[in-house]
Amino acid sequence: MNERSCLSVILAAGEGTRMKSATPKVLHKIAGLEMLAHVARAVQEAGGGDTALVVGHGADAVTAAAGSFAPRVESFVQAERLGTGHAVLAARAAIARGYDDILVTFGDTPLIARDALRQMRAALAVGADVVVMGFRTERPTGYGRLIEKGDALTAIREEKDCTDEERRITFCNGGAMAIAGAKALSLLDAVGNDNAKGEYYLTDIVEIAAGQGMTVRAIEADFESALGINNRAELAEAEAIWQRRRRRQAMLDGVTMIAPETVFFAHDTVIGADTVLEPNVFFGPGAVIGANVVIHACCHIEEARVEDGAAIGPFARLRPGAEIMTGAKIGNFVEIKKARIEPGAKVPHLSYIGDARIGAKANIGAGTITCNYDGFSKHFTDVEPGAFVGTNSSLVAPVTIGAGAYIASGSVITESVPADALAFGRARQSTREGFGKRLRERLAALKAKK
Ligand code: UD1
Ligand code: MG
Repeated sequence: MNERSCLSVILAAGEGTRMKSATPKVLHKIAGLEMLAHVARAVQEAGGGDTALVVGHGADAVTAAAGSFAPRVESFVQAERLGTGHAVLAARAAIARGYDDILVTFGDTPLIARDALRQMRAALAVGADVVVMGFRTERPTGYGRLIEKGDALTAIREEKDCTDEERRITFCNGGAMAIAGAKALSLLDAVGNDNAKGEYYLTDIVEIAAGQGMTVRAIEADFESALGINNRAELAEAEAIWQRRRRRQAMLDGVTMIAPETVFFAHDTVIGADTVLEPNVFFGPGAVIGANVVIHACCHIEEARVEDGAAIGPFARLRPGAEIMTGAKIGNFVEIKKARIEPGAKVPHLSYIGDARIGAKANIGAGTITCNYDGFSKHFTDVEPGAFVGTNSSLVAPVTIGAGAYIASGSVITESVPADALAFGRARQSTREGFGKRLRERLAALKAKK
């Protein structure tokens, strides 16, 4: 483990106008998590230490959101967008505290690899002063080119400032940079804005450092680490890459998927081994799925727990607070919200169960609905273990169905039912012999007269 102290500076002052959104660019999500949070997470996993966030456009919203996924983050406002070098200096007060390493990343590169960041810090640890995250591409247009002499990096040239020959270089700047803390401020302060864009380029510290005889290195990262998101098409591309990787990881971890390309994970989905995911399953954030679970086709699951050996779907929706315990069964066209379905209980068809407990081995007939909302408040339904609720029943909460009780089908249950009782909550059936035939004849005669 790297024992050196580290300040991570994440640049997120960009306008992101091409997102055409009221939401600041870095708060758009990949796998249900803000891009900025993906970057913050990668940085933390690389031992990124304290985090300084440089904000500009949508500063308040970005700072507030960052508080939720990186609680110790400090925000610095870059009032004018004068370039990446200028942006890093917005965090001058933090840099001046004196860290061993300064790690600079961009808030709009959500697939940045933790390992690349680790490698950069490792290079600082063995004596480099500046380390650049490079990547190779056959289409380098728009990226800064890495100018090398032997294995030393001598400069980064932005596309607009390149000679024709430099423009042909395919080793590019991925954006992230690691800088020896003791040298960072003097290097950044030496950056000028005499270039095609008139900006203070962070990349210029490479030439400055090399000119002063410092050690400057490039490491090579994968292309995805450098993938900057500027519009929603690129956002979807990054999502697709993220999902592809996650599916593969799930399969390597023992999850069976018949059509992996139709299964979508959230950033925090947890799934146990020997679980089977049939096609078209979507996980929102907060899903924890046990081992030996079957999730049949076309299910939507969010902030829900499914324990070992349970079966879900097809066409089921588990909403926040659903807890499906061991061996329980949730069938087709069933919605569960904030409800615990205890071991071995069954809700097999066409039900809404919300704000409820369904006790162990209870059986909930097709079409049963918990009437949990009176337009003002939510109320609880407690179905005790082993109860049997007949089909097409409405359980008007608050209400308790005692252990082992029976509810006749088609009941509207408005009062609690004691254990082992049989409750009818419907009109008694009346049958009149021969009345059907008489009615038919009368109707036929009426029609004939017209
Ligand atoms: C930058 C690099 C380029 C590299 C490319 C990789 C510089 C000068 N160039 O170019 O070598 O190949 O990234 O994607 O660094 N930002 C601020 N404040 C500013 C300017 C930028 O916070 O004043 C932030 C942006 O929000 C963004 C990041 O810095 O997150 C990069 O800025 P961007 O304008 O995208 O730089 P590129 O031109 O892509
Ligand atoms: Mg960019």
